[in-house]
Amino acid sequence: MDPEHASRVSVLATDFARMLSITEREAELIGIGAKYHDIGKISIPLSILQSPKPLTVVQQEMMQRHVEYGLSILSVYNSEEMDVAKTIIATHHERWDGTGYPNQLKGEEIPLAGRIVALCDVFDALSSERPYKSAWALGQVLDYIRYERGKAFDPELTDTFLNMICESALKGKAL
Ligand SMILES: [Fe+2]
Repeated sequence: MDPEHASRVSVLATDFARMLSITEREAELIGIGAKYHDIGKISIPLSILQSPKPLTVVQQEMMQRHVEYGLSILSVYNSEEMDVAKTIIATHHERWDGTGYPNQLKGEEIPLAGRIVALCDVFDALSSERPYKSAWALGQVLDYIRYERGKAFDPELTDTFLNMICESALKGKAL
């Protein structure tokens, strides 16, 4: 778990959700839920989380289990906030084209909150240094997200997201 990543994804997801046709409360809930998206990584060995090398297939499978671990951790909580958090945990690794995990949901079968956090999560992960990679330049990150439009990401949401990031960059706002 990386609390700074979780906080940045939460702020970004809130800003992004506010640009969409949803209520302020819904946007706020998505921001709160986004903080928990990777809470299940607390159950993943550090040797995998901090591996400087690409993960083996077995390690990747173990890493993917952070989704079920996260749902298990939050299962004892029942509230509006935690319900959205569970939705985000369950769906932030699904892909628009149906090749994600854990349930291979496709297109709008993936709840909006999961589609929003998927974009924000990848944006922040690529923009940040990780044990196995340096931080990508903003242009590279945007190229990658554009490439995944309609593959990993909801195409319409991708357009709105890219516009938001580009406008923020032009204004010199810290991302
Ligand atoms: Fe994750």
